[in-house]
Amino acid sequence: MRRRSFIKFLLSTPLGRLISGLLFTGAAAGVLYLDLQKTDVRRSEGALKAILLPYPKLSGLVSVEEALANRRSIRDYTEEPLTLEELSQLLWAAYGVSETRYGLRTAPSAGAQYPLELYALVGTNGVKTDKGYLAPGIYHYDPHSHSITLLKQGDFREDLYYAALEQRWVLTAPVSLIFTAVYSRTVRVYGERGRVRYVPMDLGHAGQNVYLQATALGLGTVAVGAFNDEEVARILGLSERETPLYIMPVGRPASRYKLSEKELIDYIEKHRRR
Ligand SMILES: Cc1cc2nc3c(=O)[nH]c(=O)nc-3n(C[C@H](O)[C@H](O)[C@H](O)COP(=O)(O)O)c2cc1C
Repeated sequence: MRRRSFIKFLLSTPLGRLISGLLFTGAAAGVLYLDLQKTDVRRSEGALKAILLPYPKLSGLVSVEEALANRRSIRDYTEEPLTLEELSQLLWAAYGVSETRYGLRTAPSAGAQYPLELYALVGTNGVKTDKGYLAPGIYHYDPHSHSITLLKQGDFREDLYYAALEQRWVLTAPVSLIFTAVYSRTVRVYGERGRVRYVPMDLGHAGQNVYLQATALGLGTVAVGAFNDEEVARILGLSERETPLYIMPVGRPASRYKLSEKELIDYIEKHRRR
């Protein structure tokens, strides 16, 4: 029997399904250990001082249905900064810890490999704190200690704007969250399928978390996938192990999007009559 048909045969039997289920769970558990030990990027970070973020809030005033209905890609922002609490909440929603035994995250991840890394590029006066403003610069997020570490000081929004093919919202947003991936974390378990399927799926989950949390906080964001990879990698100072995937500018929307129930029902009714 050829290898592929043997695997198909195995998956069609209850025993085969059990074995593959156990393998998936085993990979997940093994990896969780590795996740806490992750040393494949940012080795020098230990020497830098982490900024401890306010604890994430686990309840809010907006339902998941409202956040889904009112989520839009927002590209026009006011000049108002975010607060440190808002930045903290966005980072947690994106990729923070939501399970304390193994450090599982708010976004699902194939085999719990967690290939993504998350950065916040903060502009001048972009994030308001108790004492003033966060220093402008590029920060790396650590989900386990829920802290950020300043890697590079300065306002890099203009650099990012040029790297993102002059998309204005990258220049005007007070903050951009940037997702990168260390593909090898997923590829070493799943091979090519990890690269072409699982890592992009992981990114989609985390990206949608940012959209929904931003909407629930009255903020706006847009997923930006069009940019020059090498330029963004240079701005963030990434090693060749890490690939930038999404830039998500975040700001206060210049105008809010709101879907009414009537509008939605009218739309559905119109399409039912066709
Ligand atoms: C993979 C991906 C890449 C995207 N890249 C960009 C981009 O580079 N610039 C941009 O302004 N919007 C970008 N978008 C946002 C889409 O334009 C937007 O989601 C779409 O127009 C639907 O609008 P909505 O998000 O408000 O529902 C991207 C969305 C996805 C999912």
